[in-house]
Amino acid sequence: MGFWSRPKFTRPRVLSDKGIMGMNRRNIDYIGRYNPRRLYPLVDDKLQTKRIALACGVTVPDLIGTISQQHQVRHLAEMVQEWPGFCIKPAKGSGGKGITVIVRHDRTGYTKPSGAQETIDDLERHVSNILAGLYSLGGKPDVALIEALINFDDSFEGYSFEGVPDTRVIVFKGFPVMAMMRLSTDASDGKANLHQGAVGVGIDIGSGRAIRAVQFDQPVDHHPDTGRQLSELQVPDWETLLQLSASCYEMSGLGYLGTDMVLDKLRGPMLLELNARPGLAIQTANGAGLLPRLRRIEALDSQRMSVAQRVDYAREHFSIAS
Ligand SMILES: Nc1ncnc2c1ncn2[C@@H]1O[C@H](COP(=O)(O)OP(=O)(O)O)[C@@H](O)[C@H]1O
Ligand SMILES: [Mg+2]
Repeated sequence: MGFWSRPKFTRPRVLSDKGIMGMNRRNIDYIGRYNPRRLYPLVDDKLQTKRIALACGVTVPDLIGTISQQHQVRHLAEMVQEWPGFCIKPAKGSGGKGITVIVRHDRTGYTKPSGAQETIDDLERHVSNILAGLYSLGGKPDVALIEALINFDDSFEGYSFEGVPDTRVIVFKGFPVMAMMRLSTDASDGKANLHQGAVGVGIDIGSGRAIRAVQFDQPVDHHPDTGRQLSELQVPDWETLLQLSASCYEMSGLGYLGTDMVLDKLRGPMLLELNARPGLAIQTANGAGLLPRLRRIEALDSQRMSVAQRVDYAREHFSIAS
């Protein structure tokens, strides 16, 4: 298949031919069946996810601190003083909502990835909004996480505009079944979430190489801001990244899981967050459906397979070359 060949995804018959999974099937047959509800709080709260990751020896971005009460908000400037860059996020947020990335700061103010300046008052107001539940599920009161800035690996230079690219891997019963890189754009303001306007690049499970890419559900060949050709993208350290995602199965107990990984310049692959209801757009970015892969795993007796064996199996069977 030629690189950015353009299959006609939108025709329903073609969709089902490709085994594209819809929302109902995902909710009922996979999330409902494989994700015990009692485990949701572990992944719906980023603070808890960090705790279990650290307990399992999985690398995560440094936590500078948390703010859970209004009277602590005025300590924000002091908390971040010694950190060159940081990120403020709601513990129970999703889809990039309520995340503010600050790449540097000095006496004149705080600089976002776009170069836009924020004052300490702006940031404190933002934290207050997080506490009030503006970005949390169901509008419940929330906690603000202040996290160290991730410095993304040089190999992604030009692929992402003003923000950290992340790699989403769908892990089913501990097997990495489909992957996509998400690249931030001018539209997505330093965040790599598709609904914020990031580019999604389907990544071959076998090789870690780009398959095709989409932005706002439409195929794209080049990064809209940097012009870099997306077909050349190759995720470095692919095996390690797959093993890290696959091991999130044991760590979380969730059978159907989305793992968000980032590659830090100094610390290598890290886990950013886990998702118990990962989106379906990864299929569009890959030009392939999840269902055939999920069914293949369901037919397998995989209980005693190790992380390394599961990764080997996935690389062999879910590669576009196979
Ligand atoms: N510590 C950080 N440093 C830099 N960018 C970050 C950091 N944390 C998150 N981001 C950016 O924000 C995006 C969303 O973060 P994430 O923690 O996955 O929250 P959400 O649940 O909203 O998707 C990431 O993909 C990344 O681009
Ligand atoms: Mg995320």
